[in-house]
Amino acid sequence: MHRNSTFSDSTVTQLKRYQWWQNRRFKLGISILVLVIAIITLSLILKFIVFAPEKSETTTTTTTTTTTSSSLTTEVYSTTTTTTITTTTITQQLVWHNTGNLTTTRYRHAASVLNDGKVLVTGGLGSQYQLSSTELYDPSTGKWTLTGRMLIERELHTASVLTNGKVLVVGGESSHGYITESELYNPSTGNWTVTDSTQYARAEHTATVLPNGKVLVTGGFYGDRHLDTAELYDPSTETWTNTSTMNIGREHHTATVLRDGRVLVAGGGKHPNEHTAELYDPVREIWTYTGNMTGGRERHTASALASGKVLVTGGTQDGPSNTAELYDPNTETWTAISSMKDGRFDHTASVLSNGKVLISGGYLSNSLNSVELYDPLTESWTTIASMNHLRSDHTASILSDGTILAAGGYDRGSMNTAELYKSL
Ligand SMILES: *[C@@H]1O[C@H](CO)[C@@H](O)[C@H](O)[C@H]1NC(C)=O
Ligand SMILES: *[C@@H]1O[C@H](CO)[C@@H](O)[C@H](O)[C@H]1NC(C)=O
Ligand SMILES: *[C@@H]1O[C@H](CO)[C@@H](O)[C@H](O)[C@H]1NC(C)=O
Ligand SMILES: *[C@@H]1O[C@H](CO)[C@@H](O)[C@H](O)[C@H]1NC(C)=O
Repeated sequence: MHRNSTFSDSTVTQLKRYQWWQNRRFKLGISILVLVIAIITLSLILKFIVFAPEKSETTTTTTTTTTTSSSLTTEVYSTTTTTTITTTTITQQLVWHNTGNLTTTRYRHAASVLNDGKVLVTGGLGSQYQLSSTELYDPSTGKWTLTGRMLIERELHTASVLTNGKVLVVGGESSHGYITESELYNPSTGNWTVTDSTQYARAEHTATVLPNGKVLVTGGFYGDRHLDTAELYDPSTETWTNTSTMNIGREHHTATVLRDGRVLVAGGGKHPNEHTAELYDPVREIWTYTGNMTGGRERHTASALASGKVLVTGGTQDGPSNTAELYDPNTETWTAISSMKDGRFDHTASVLSNGKVLISGGYLSNSLNSVELYDPLTESWTTIASMNHLRSDHTASILSDGTILAAGGYDRGSMNTAELYKSL
């Protein structure tokens, strides 16, 4: 037996023991390595999937199973390391859900999220004529109800939520022509009152609430003219004043407030100025040209990103564009980024609370139902669930819980449907 072994037997045993130790260290090393990999995998999974700021579009199941077994027949040594990591992110496949229908079909309307979380939709083009009706969407019931009627029917107007909670409607077009009359909606009474008129009648203009609470209105269309004039509304006096004119006339352009309070106006100029952009300084009330976009566009979107940059998407010059570009306020330059899958104009862009930008619908050769999501971290696009209905010239509002409400629009006619996408 072992105990009474000869010298040579003992040497063999020592040799065996030595090999055993060597083997054990090797096995231990492997086990530790595997454990470390498993821990890293687990922490990555936790970081990017479980604690990710948004639910992934589809159900993600990650299973890491590590099994290390050692057993030596001649020795009393046996180790079994079993690491099983099962992470299941349970999210329903994110889709668009129909919600209540608008009381009236409409496109080229405006939508405003009120302080109480309801959405006010105003005017637009109905089945034949411009509308003066306005309606409220209540997210708690999923229903639309008519509220006060505007004094003037209008399409291609703007609606801005003021710091006092009222909604200022400006300009647009009625069957009588371009409109100078502005109106104020009081959410606590549900009534509209006429406020001061703008100096210039305009449609397809922009209206931007500045950090000081005033509303800057720029450009727009008047007959066949691209307007270069800009005006300021002061909610405390409820009056309009002229501010300096832009360098060129623009319509169907965009206006975006930058972090420093300046306003970037882009596109919408007459040939060959479709690609120009300018900055408004609200303190000195002056306009200065800034870098030109890489492409000319109108009927595009512009969104201020968390980084301070501005994302511009799509639009049209000679046809629907799928291009996108970023404006950097520090260098005052534009950089083309990867293109969307679909060319589109008269679409919407919504900046989600996770920083991504959701682009919905618009017009290519028909109205579109496709939806694309821009991720600022990777500067790339992902096509996500399509809307249930084709829509262009619709509105997309971000409700207080992050849900996107797409309402109305055009698909071979004016539409009454509305749908929701739970983005977060
Ligand atoms: C909403 O309107 C559409 C027609 O645009 C109709 O097909 C649908 O049944 C309506 N939905 C409800 C709930 O009334
Ligand atoms: C809203 O306007 C209508 C019609 O002018 C009026 O009868 C009603 O009293 C107003 N509502 C409020 C709360 O002022
Ligand atoms: C605004 O400017 C226009 C000319 O651009 C002028 O006719 C008008 O009187 C000005 N209005 C005010 C209130 O200064
Ligand atoms: C921008 O484009 C215009 C032509 O529309 C040109 O005159 C101008 O020089 C360009 N600006 C820059 C900074 O390239």
